[in-house]
Amino acid sequence: MPIITNSWLKKTTGSRALEELFAMAADNIPTGYAKYPWTYPGINHGKGILENDAQLNCYIHAYGLMHVCKLWKALEYLPLDAVCNGFEIIDWGCGQGLATLTLLAWLKKYFPERSIPQCVTLLDLSSAALNRAQYFVGRSLLGNKVDIDAIPVDLSQGTYARDAYPRSSKPVVHLFSNIIDVPRICHTAIAQVIAESKNQSFVVCVGHHATANDAAHFRWLLGNHHAELLHHENIQYKEQLSNGKLFGWDITIMQHARMAKAA
Ligand SMILES: C[S@@+](CC[C@H](N)C(=O)[O-])C[C@H]1O[C@@H](n2cnc3c(N)ncnc32)[C@H](O)[C@@H]1O
Repeated sequence: MPIITNSWLKKTTGSRALEELFAMAADNIPTGYAKYPWTYPGINHGKGILENDAQLNCYIHAYGLMHVCKLWKALEYLPLDAVCNGFEIIDWGCGQGLATLTLLAWLKKYFPERSIPQCVTLLDLSSAALNRAQYFVGRSLLGNKVDIDAIPVDLSQGTYARDAYPRSSKPVVHLFSNIIDVPRICHTAIAQVIAESKNQSFVVCVGHHATANDAAHFRWLLGNHHAELLHHENIQYKEQLSNGKLFGWDITIMQHARMAKAA
C-alpha cells in the first residue's frame, strides 16, 4: 500500500497550486503544533469555522492529504458527460478549495482539453478560508478567463439559493468535500437548490467513512428529487498517512437531469 505523502500529492495530482498550498501550510505551522496540528484551538476535528492563518495551516497539515486522496478516488466515477461540453463548478463548504483544486488537477491530468470550467463558485462561512480558496483556484486557472466567485454563505440557513445558482447553462459539478456531516448543514435546502436547477447537475460527495449516515440522508433527499445514483462506496480503512494513520472514505456520485422549462 503506498503511503500518502507530499511526494504522492506531487506525483499523482501534478498540481502546483495544491503543492504551494500544502507547502505554505507546512512552513507556517504555529510552534509546537507540527506533530499534532489537529489539536490547535478552533480546529474542532476539521469542522470549526476557521478564522486565521494559523488555523488554516493546521487544517491543511492535519487533513489535506487525506482529503485530496479521497477526492482523487471519487473523481474516477464522475462521468465524462459532466465536463465534455463545458461545465461549471459549485464547491459547497469549500474551505481552502481542496475539492475544486483536486477536480481541476484530475481533469488536467486525464482530460486536459476539457479541464477549464466556465466559472467557479466557492461557498463557505469562513472569509479567511474563502480568500485562500479564491487565491489558489485562481493560481490553478492562471492564464484562463474564468470567473471565480467566493461567496460567504451560511449553509445552515435555507436562504442561499440565490448564491448557489449556476452562472451558465452548462452542466454543474457540485462538490461536497467533508461538508455533509458538518453539524447544522441543511441537506434539505441544498438538495432543493440542486433539484430546482435549470442545469444538468453532477454531485460528488466525499467524506470520512463514518459520514455514511449523513451521506445516506443526502442521497435519499436527492433521490426523492429524481436524482440518479451513479456510484456509492464506503470503505473503512484502506490508505495510510506517513504518521501511520489509516483512513477510508464514503463516496457518492449522483446525477440530476436538467429541470424542464415551464411551458
Ligand atoms: C471539514 S471542512 C471542509 C472544507 C473543504 N470542503 C475541504 O474538503 O477541505 C468544513 C467547512 O465547512 C465550513 N462550514 C461549517 N459550517 C458552515 C456553515 N454553516 N455554512 C457554510 N460553511 C460552513 C467551514 O468553514 C469549513 O470550511
